[in-house]
Amino acid sequence: MKKYITTPIYYINGSPHIGHAYTTILGDVMKKYETMRGLNVHYTTGTDEHGQKNQTSCQESGMELADFLKMRSDNFRNLFDKMDIDYDYFVRTSSPEHKAVVTDALNYIYNKGLIKKKSYEGLYCVGCEQFKKPSDLDERGFCPDHQKAPVLITEENYFFPLEEHRQWLIDYIKSNPDWIQPKRFAKEVLGMLSEPLEDLCISRPKNRVWLGVELPFDKDFVTYIWFDALINYISSIGWSSDVSKNQKFNELWSECTHLLAKDILKTHAVYWPIMLKCLGINPPKHLIVHDYWIGEGSIKMSKSLGNVVDPYEVMDIMGVEPLRFYLCNAMSLNGDSQISIDLLKQGYKQLANNIGNLQMRVLKMIAKNLNGLVPSKDNLTTKDKKLVETISNNFNRLYNHNESSLELISELSSEILKAGDMVNAYFASNEPWVLAKDETKFERYQAVIYTTLDALRIIASAMYPFMPTISTKILSSLGINEKPTSKFAPFELTPNNQTIVGDPLFPFIG
Ligand code: MSP
Repeated sequence: MKKYITTPIYYINGSPHIGHAYTTILGDVMKKYETMRGLNVHYTTGTDEHGQKNQTSCQESGMELADFLKMRSDNFRNLFDKMDIDYDYFVRTSSPEHKAVVTDALNYIYNKGLIKKKSYEGLYCVGCEQFKKPSDLDERGFCPDHQKAPVLITEENYFFPLEEHRQWLIDYIKSNPDWIQPKRFAKEVLGMLSEPLEDLCISRPKNRVWLGVELPFDKDFVTYIWFDALINYISSIGWSSDVSKNQKFNELWSECTHLLAKDILKTHAVYWPIMLKCLGINPPKHLIVHDYWIGEGSIKMSKSLGNVVDPYEVMDIMGVEPLRFYLCNAMSLNGDSQISIDLLKQGYKQLANNIGNLQMRVLKMIAKNLNGLVPSKDNLTTKDKKLVETISNNFNRLYNHNESSLELISELSSEILKAGDMVNAYFASNEPWVLAKDETKFERYQAVIYTTLDALRIIASAMYPFMPTISTKILSSLGINEKPTSKFAPFELTPNNQTIVGDPLFPFIG
């Protein structure tokens, strides 16, 4: 079975920060999780290279446009490569392939008579690249996300009426309660739909914004950046208005999940399904929406506000995989989460004390007493068996869900730490270092070591989506060279496997 996962495509007017890293890591963790379950996943991410913000950044850089766009887009791509993101396609909205699909979609909608030209006056927030209603602004008249007053703009533009689709969308959300996850965001969207929807302005005059896809029906305008950017989800899998060409597209689209943060909920849950409806395409299968990582002062982290955690700095301190695990484990499911270098270091130390120490202690012990060989599993007690079976059942349950979700990924990460705690407690209470000294207790010693190693094997396999290299290192330290699957059968570790004490999985950091 196939699955298609997308991240938002990121603006390139600044450097990537931890928020961009998070959504992209989340998608990659979901991809690895689904792949372990035997699904064939297509994963896309990329950069949103048009619009006024990017245009201003380019002008300020003094660089040639194409060089500037490539340099900025590469900042994201290089970060994602460094974070081991296994994307199948990296979208760039400045690419001819993407632009051709935007043009095709615009022509299709225009020819259906769904676009009209009119004069408009409104308050425009360049940070959001959106016109704002007075009710969108705070008491000072500022955009709450960008802490700036929007500017009053009067222009002739092309508009895409949304209101006639409002009731359809309300009905769709109500009859598909899993469409937007978590459910509280579906409620928020229904709130947005409780008032009539204004026509969406889908053009920008070139004398204000020249960085964009030219409207095929009026060369004095470029396409509104959001109309252009949302199309990436269908351009990257080859949509065409000629339906005979859509075989690959149809297969993937029916299994599409968009990942996004709540800042772009309206564009994805209101504009996008209506655009799709007018293109004759069903809504994506799911929208998975998360809250924000917030920095000092509990303000949303954003390039425009300058309070960002730099993912490169974090990776220099602790490496990429502990960062991947931390972000998936520490993001709250009920609101924004604070992030700082200190909190990240605490998360790293928790992993080192839990999984890292356990692996090192048990392997060193058997290198000393058992020639490094996995001992016999002949004399396991009911309690030993219960520990391994409980851990294996818990992971089997978590890998048996129909689909990955934010809750599931979070629960899986917590279960890894919980299982590590259980095995550490088992190891401490059975005192194998005492058993090792007494020849009459040798069978018991072997059983405790086997139990610990087999539990570690299962935990390492379950860790794979978050920490693929560390998971593989643990497995090969137990003499296992196969890639983990989503079957967590107990007692499968082969006695007499040669184990290896390697370097610490989580080296000491200050
Ligand atoms: N270009 C648009 C998206 C177009 S998608 C068709 C855009 N770009 S963005 O660079 O501002 O990225 C927004 C996305 O980055 C969020 O929806 C989220 O996925 C991620 N994050 C950015 N800041 C974040 C946090 N502080 N916390 C969590 N995620 C954040 O909007």
